[in-house]
Amino acid sequence: MTQLYKSVPVRSSEITPKEVYFSRRDFIKATGLLAGSMALAACAPSAQEIENAKPVPTSNAKDELGDVVTTYEDITNYNNYYEFTTDKQGVAGLAKDFKTTPWTVEVGGLVSNPKTFGIEDLLKLFPQEERIYRLRCVEAWSMVIPWSGFPLAKLIEMVAPTSGAKYVRFETVYRPEEMPGQKSPFYPWPYQEGLRLDEAMNDLTLLATGLYGEMNVPQNGAPLRLVVPWKYGFKSIKSIVKIELTADEPATMWKSIQGNEYGFYANVNPNVDHPRWSQASERRIGELNRRQTLMFNGYGEQVASLYDGMDLSVNY
Ligand code: MTE
Repeated sequence: MTQLYKSVPVRSSEITPKEVYFSRRDFIKATGLLAGSMALAACAPSAQEIENAKPVPTSNAKDELGDVVTTYEDITNYNNYYEFTTDKQGVAGLAKDFKTTPWTVEVGGLVSNPKTFGIEDLLKLFPQEERIYRLRCVEAWSMVIPWSGFPLAKLIEMVAPTSGAKYVRFETVYRPEEMPGQKSPFYPWPYQEGLRLDEAMNDLTLLATGLYGEMNVPQNGAPLRLVVPWKYGFKSIKSIVKIELTADEPATMWKSIQGNEYGFYANVNPNVDHPRWSQASERRIGELNRRQTLMFNGYGEQVASLYDGMDLSVNY
């Protein structure tokens, strides 16, 4: 496996604008997460090193293909989060008071060690990594996002799947009193998603706890969301409260609403059009011209073999 397609691990101090970096430090200090998450991460800098770090402006941070990261402003103000609203520019405002602490994630199903984790446990147990990933929405817009988080595989290994486990199912929190979109009868809430177990165990598959070196904000799926960069964005489910190992392919929200348009696999594929629009190109937020969409969103080197022998126009 060559390095070419791999995400570039970067220190948050290299990708974060000064103002954001400092506000993050204050936030982390205020919530006491510094001692928990950063200090215990094997290779992470000490609190003093973070204090002393000289943040470098972000504008030139790039992914492994040389694509520049999308601005923090755009990433946090242009969102898909139907639990709040279908208006992308309205999510941030409606989500700003969403309560993300306390938060627990129940991990169970076909596993030997089912366990409920507090978000603070997850930050302590797993070293947080920085990864710059492209995000390609099925609606044909895209961004480049500097996430922090940890591989889903680490969490799955900890609960020890039994031999019957073949899939992983994810569920978003259900809180209609805080999430006005969940009062809409048109969607079968709660939002649910799924992966095949080998997809879930792939090193690219991330549970993200932050972006741009800050803790996640509500509109991006705080405190914990999935990121599967070679699949359309709707697979990257936000605000997860439940992860379940299953024997059968789990139902997913978009497939259950409109299975002819949104399949279980949802791999980014410029050769298979959405019934209502082309998937051959995309609009990168912040750019004027459209760009060609890459097979598996450019991560083919790491994931194409997962689909050997499958017809991706049938398993879309
Ligand atoms: N997760 C939940 N729970 N609800 C949603 O509406 N939208 C999905 C995905 N995860 C969505 C979700 C879609 S369509 C996309 S493109 C991405 O989130 C967008 O992530 P972003 O807003 O952080 O860019």
